[in-house]
Amino acid sequence: MRAPPPLALEDTAVGIPPGTLLVKLDDLPEHGGKDIVFREGTHRLQLLVQRFDGQFHVYENRCPHAGTPLNLFGDRFLDTTNKRLICRTHGALFDPLTGLCVRGPCKGDHLRAVAFEVRDGGLYSL
Ligand code: FES
Repeated sequence: MRAPPPLALEDTAVGIPPGTLLVKLDDLPEHGGKDIVFREGTHRLQLLVQRFDGQFHVYENRCPHAGTPLNLFGDRFLDTTNKRLICRTHGALFDPLTGLCVRGPCKGDHLRAVAFEVRDGGLYSL
């Protein structure tokens, strides 16, 4: 299945304006991740940010299988090999570069990528 285009956060129910700081680069060591939650009224949007091989990746923190966040708690998203993102609910594994599920109940589906840019020492919404 083809990956959908990156999600513009201002188009979500939470309505995050372009230029919003998502995370500072200093808070993302190699193989480091961040679980970020935005709320607006009753709406909630959960993102995951992952640094992997020196690159940054931002996805909606929502597994395509059952819709749960990949992490049960905290900022850890990689499996024990540090090569795949793992969903803690049923163990699906995802390529951190593309968000493609490579093993598990949603094999062939993608995490929803988020549009962002890197500048001024941080990751910002587009
Ligand atoms: S909810 Fe992620 S594998 Fe089932």
